Amino acid sequence: MFQVNDNYLKLPGSYLFSTIGKKVQAYSQANPDKTIIRLGIGDVTQPLVPAIIKAMHEAVEDMAHKETFHGYAPDLGYDFLRNAIANQDYKARGCQIEADEIFISDGAKCDCGNIQEIFAESSRIAVCDPVYPVYVDSNVMAGRTGEYDSASGTWSRVIYMPCTAENGFVPELPKETPDLIYLCIPNNPTGTTLTKEQLKVWVDYANRVGAVILYDAAYEAYISEKEVPHSIFEIEGARTCAIEFRSFSKNAGFTGVRLGFTVIPKDLKSGQVMVHSLWARRHGTKFNGAPYITQKAAMAVYSEEGKAQVQEQVAYYMRNARVIYDSLKDSGYEVYGGVNAPYIWLKTPKGMTSWDFFDYLLEKANVVGTPGSGFGPSGEGYFRLTAFGTYENTAAAIERIRGL
Ligand code: MLT
Repeated sequence: MFQVNDNYLKLPGSYLFSTIGKKVQAYSQANPDKTIIRLGIGDVTQPLVPAIIKAMHEAVEDMAHKETFHGYAPDLGYDFLRNAIANQDYKARGCQIEADEIFISDGAKCDCGNIQEIFAESSRIAVCDPVYPVYVDSNVMAGRTGEYDSASGTWSRVIYMPCTAENGFVPELPKETPDLIYLCIPNNPTGTTLTKEQLKVWVDYANRVGAVILYDAAYEAYISEKEVPHSIFEIEGARTCAIEFRSFSKNAGFTGVRLGFTVIPKDLKSGQVMVHSLWARRHGTKFNGAPYITQKAAMAVYSEEGKAQVQEQVAYYMRNARVIYDSLKDSGYEVYGGVNAPYIWLKTPKGMTSWDFFDYLLEKANVVGTPGSGFGPSGEGYFRLTAFGTYENTAAAIERIRGL
């Protein structure tokens, strides 16, 4: 009889945002007269900007003629996009990253979830707690996390680095030595960041102990403070210890279009083996390249017109972030984030658990957020609201919460 990968059986029944989706669906079926405002999953609500739409239309037209039709894309990405990224996202910031160190993919979530495959099964992982659940879940699937302790909500082989109000949401260097360190900066869900000096401590540490930092910078477009780096490669020494993940979902509204990229410097080696070669091998085997139309659309993000338009869109969401932050603070909530990230992280009132507060908001205000405990044990007693709603819905949701 065949057997399944029983690591999957160790996982919670469904992924965090699917669980939320099911709860909200059940509530709305039972209460069809209620208008629910969703500030849960960080999904964008504004349409693609005109420069991107124009580029997509042109690419669709290219596909209609045999002279300009494109079949399989190069599996690591088209040079036009890899060059634009290398020049504008990296070299323009003083980072020494070449176009052939950039791997175009169908999104940062897939890359963050898949990257663990190219490391030894025995690798110890360290994660900020709370953090984006994909990192731990994908390592559970790979059998790398040990056993789950339901009392503490932790996996025995995972090194948790608590990030709470008490330490300013800045992780401390772990006491046990990890092989792989996931850092999501600006952080999802807390919305907090590291300065260059703080990140340098991590780079030096990883180089010293021989660990790899898996740096998820999906929210870098939301950084507003000067001392916060946009890339780990702004830090000296990162080329020998870091991999960076980037996304077009949050800066350009590609959540439904799907495009991202991963940067692996050729200096990142285990003995003589370049990690870059392994990821190239994996990419070539399991991925057939991101679509031409999508990569052309992403090129528009690097045009003068596109840059101005996507910046305006980021500003739109950050106005929501300010509304949420200021209004909740004004109502006596303890709130964090929202300055360099599109997430507001708040302490639940009156010591409620994260899920109790979720139910309370859903039932009393018909507003959906994300329970902090879904991001890790140290997220218990916290709650996340996203700034990716429309301005009108955001303002209405906050009025409802203030009215409770
Ligand atoms: C989130 O809400 O945390 C994100 O939207 C999830 C994602 O980007 O995959």
